Amino acid sequence: MKKVVLAFSGGLDTSCAVKWLQEKYGFEVVCFSAFIGEVSDKSKLHKRAKAAGASKLYIEDLKEEFARDFILPALRAHARYEGKYPLATALGRPLIAQHLVRIAEKEKAEFVAHGCTGKGNDQVRIEVGVRTLNPSLKIIAPLREWEFKTREEEIEYAQENNIPIDATKASPYSIDKNIWGIAIEAGILENPWQEPPEEAYVMTRGLDRVPKKPRYLEIEFKDGVPIKLNGAAKSLVDMIESLNEIAGTYGVGRFDQIENRLVGIKSREVYEAPAAEVLLKAHQELEGMAMDRDFIHYKKLLSEKYAQLVYFGLWFSPLKEALDEFFKSNQKRVSGKVRMKLDHGHAICVGRKSDYSLYCEKLATYSKGDLFDRTSAEGFLKIWGLPYEGLKAKQPQE
Ligand code: ARG
Repeated sequence: MKKVVLAFSGGLDTSCAVKWLQEKYGFEVVCFSAFIGEVSDKSKLHKRAKAAGASKLYIEDLKEEFARDFILPALRAHARYEGKYPLATALGRPLIAQHLVRIAEKEKAEFVAHGCTGKGNDQVRIEVGVRTLNPSLKIIAPLREWEFKTREEEIEYAQENNIPIDATKASPYSIDKNIWGIAIEAGILENPWQEPPEEAYVMTRGLDRVPKKPRYLEIEFKDGVPIKLNGAAKSLVDMIESLNEIAGTYGVGRFDQIENRLVGIKSREVYEAPAAEVLLKAHQELEGMAMDRDFIHYKKLLSEKYAQLVYFGLWFSPLKEALDEFFKSNQKRVSGKVRMKLDHGHAICVGRKSDYSLYCEKLATYSKGDLFDRTSAEGFLKIWGLPYEGLKAKQPQE
């Protein structure tokens, strides 16, 4: 019997997909679930996969790997798509693609399948990832092929086939969550004029429920990696989970944006990423103090490009990998401490220090002890402005 490995979340789509792949193609279906965010109930997931007809289910706890190999490079890169979205979902997909390929090879399956729709970015990330890693695997996307047009039709199919579904979990939104953040789409959010209702948010409190007083955090970085929170050592996963909790309480890390998908559609996206917001800002602040002007300005251009590559599903591409090397360079200098203030939805850097700081108070000061040599400013400015002096005299006529 031909075999397919399906990326399985246990939701309605992928549960129906198990049955559908068997009926339509006569496949043996092996399921694979990656845990990179919420720890779902493993035994429930097993039950579901079995009830839907899967021959086997791999559940893998991949949070550590996700943090080390996907989040950390994105943190170093200061990656935010279109200046805002810290790319949580976009970073999770190549990890899933990588493990789909690994399991398919192990299981000697010729096919892999996923539950992404035909109009999103996720299909791109999974399929391009799989094809880059193993072009001989064939990919099936049931949601692009099957006959169900609405959720109701899927529910009916599930009921007819005794596939268990959570009727109670009928969230009006499409949600994807991992430790780097959550994406909330669809339902009423599709109207871009409509403010997201408070109940759409999962990781952050509304400003009417945040603590009145601000809270200060001290984050210590070593070689570009956040290692301590308020003096206590933390693994990267721990750091991210703690910051999600703390900063989420202060309403930090909400984004509401109109975004340009790869497939050409503009979509309205609501994101929450409390830890990402705090860590991206903190890293940027420390690097800003430890690195020179040219590096910082040039890096900004590359960060933008990097975020696009990740968003567009090109995680395993040579350019993205080369950029990783660029962003890794000089990280030894990004060591030190950052003081962040959480206050009514904001995470503000209010202090930074590093042994590698290039900031020199004696040069910057307007008070006593100034060491800056003003007398050389005059000559410097003469030469700096020289190329522009002739412009006015030799202006072309309109
Ligand atoms: N628009 C975001 C992205 O492309 C989020 C996608 C969310 N995916 C989902 N299955 N709900 O990365």
